[in-house]
Amino acid sequence: MESKISILVTCLIFATAFQLLLPLSEASLKVGYYRHHNCYRAESIVKSTVRSFVRKDPGLGAGLIRMFFHDCFVRGCDASVLLDPTPANNQTEKQAIPNNPSLRGFEVIDAAKKELEKECPGVVSCADIIALAARDASFLLGNISYKIPTGRLDGRISNGAEALQFLPPPFFNLTQLEAIFASKGLSAAEMVALSGAHSIGRSHCSSFTSRLYPTIDRTMNQQFGAALRNLCPQNATVDGVVRQDFVTANKLDEQYYKNVESLTALFFSDWSLLTSPATRQQVNTYTKEPEKFKEDFANAMIKMGSIIEVLPGSPGEVRGATCRFVN
Ligand code: HEM
Repeated sequence: MESKISILVTCLIFATAFQLLLPLSEASLKVGYYRHHNCYRAESIVKSTVRSFVRKDPGLGAGLIRMFFHDCFVRGCDASVLLDPTPANNQTEKQAIPNNPSLRGFEVIDAAKKELEKECPGVVSCADIIALAARDASFLLGNISYKIPTGRLDGRISNGAEALQFLPPPFFNLTQLEAIFASKGLSAAEMVALSGAHSIGRSHCSSFTSRLYPTIDRTMNQQFGAALRNLCPQNATVDGVVRQDFVTANKLDEQYYKNVESLTALFFSDWSLLTSPATRQQVNTYTKEPEKFKEDFANAMIKMGSIIEVLPGSPGEVRGATCRFVN
């Protein structure tokens, strides 16, 4: 009995020490944080803003979900992706190839921040607005519902080179994808679940034309490739856009996994999920169990939202009137 108690006490000491080691912001992330921290209506304000934009243009919902991913993978979920270039720093994440010109939804964040500043100035971080907006977009487009902890701080640094370093390009193979997700604490299974986001939104032709020319890649359904060639002609002067999912374009659902299996997903990285027995099996499971996909997607979004990397020497803040500039 005594030894059990001493084990329990040791565990408690370790748990407390671990908690103290966590950066302040991660330790204090809580579901409903703003209800107890001077902005009772924060979540409902974000929700109604997102709803009004996404009703008019569902593509913005896709943009917001991708924005959350691109924010969290670079310096943690700290809204560094929202920072505009300044004379002192004209190479921000926003301008880097993985984000420019493809990332969208900035106007939704601006509108939510504006409303929040009226209600409770300087309280709600831009990083939390992105996390909440992605959660709300997942509900609106996929009927996927989950609670996301809040209480993040906004970072003061945005470095374009880091976006290139940490955001996976569409030509990565499975080993490379797994490595980049692992470096952010996410498993291969979580990566497969999150990839279901490619059942909504769009892609620029330039993200996959290397699979179409000079020959249609053998990893792609040949008829699908021929159709994409029509939409994305070689030597086109503008970089066109196509939908990611030609079956249920605006629904965040398991169709993505069916597309992967039938070789009708856009990217080489999508196809590569078929190249290990474990990920291939998971893809197949989701085609048959949409509810399982939704549950895993929700949990993986929450996990992604816990990536906090506030580094020593760069303390966070809650940005003031705008999410586009540091205080
Ligand atoms: C596994 C590695 C991933 C790669 C290589 C990848 C790559 C890409 C690329 C190249 C695009 C098209 C960009 C363009 O040309 O317009 C895209 C779009 C998109 N991605 Fe990913 N992605 C990955 C994972 C994710 C994750 C984890 C999420 C979110 C959970 C996500 C959400 C989206 C969404 C929603 C779009 C459509 C955006 C829009 O319509 O504006 N992706 N992705």
